[in-house]
Amino acid sequence: MQRKLSHADNLIHQFDTVLRTLVPKAAQASRPSPAQSIRDGDMSDSEREHAVGLMRINHTGEVCAQALYQGQGLTARLADVRGQMEQAAQEEIDHLAWCDQRLTELEGRTSLLNPLFYASSFSLGALAGAVGDRVSLGFVAATEEQVGRHLDEHLRELPSGDRRSRAVLEQMREDEAHHERWALEAGGSRFPATVKFGMRLVSKVMTKSVYRV
Ligand SMILES: [Fe+2]
Ligand SMILES: [Fe+2]
Repeated sequence: MQRKLSHADNLIHQFDTVLRTLVPKAAQASRPSPAQSIRDGDMSDSEREHAVGLMRINHTGEVCAQALYQGQGLTARLADVRGQMEQAAQEEIDHLAWCDQRLTELEGRTSLLNPLFYASSFSLGALAGAVGDRVSLGFVAATEEQVGRHLDEHLRELPSGDRRSRAVLEQMREDEAHHERWALEAGGSRFPATVKFGMRLVSKVMTKSVYRV
């Protein structure tokens, strides 16, 4: 029989999730990495460094996605779509783990700024969840739209020899488009262009800093 979770249980669970998100190599993917059977082409040192910068940005994006879903999970009701939300959150864990694995292969590291971005995305998610489900789902959709745009850009920018990162990003691109669609279909509001513009500015700050730090 399942017992009701106490506040202490919830707190421990939250803490565990935070650690799994922020500690390198702690996230466990439920699907094998799309890079699994792909062989890389040749890459120069500067190309590899560029790939590390891009994959570090994608990894931090997934840290933010985790924080966003966890923050919302705390405050949003979302009774009808909780199952879908949990599935999307699981797919984000896959993305997080795949980017982490790829960074290790490229001899890169995750961003030192991740705790900062985690905390701000968690607060934004919790805030959106508290305002209401339509806003909360709208926030998911707007975020995924932006992530999709980034992924397109990175797919164009990746060195041609970096086929393993490309395989990861292509699968992520597909998953994110799917998350955006369900969030809108589930009743998410379409955010006005001004809000999306603000979100783009924030993400510019993120990408510029995380590429190096
Ligand atoms: Fe993702
Ligand atoms: Fe997503």
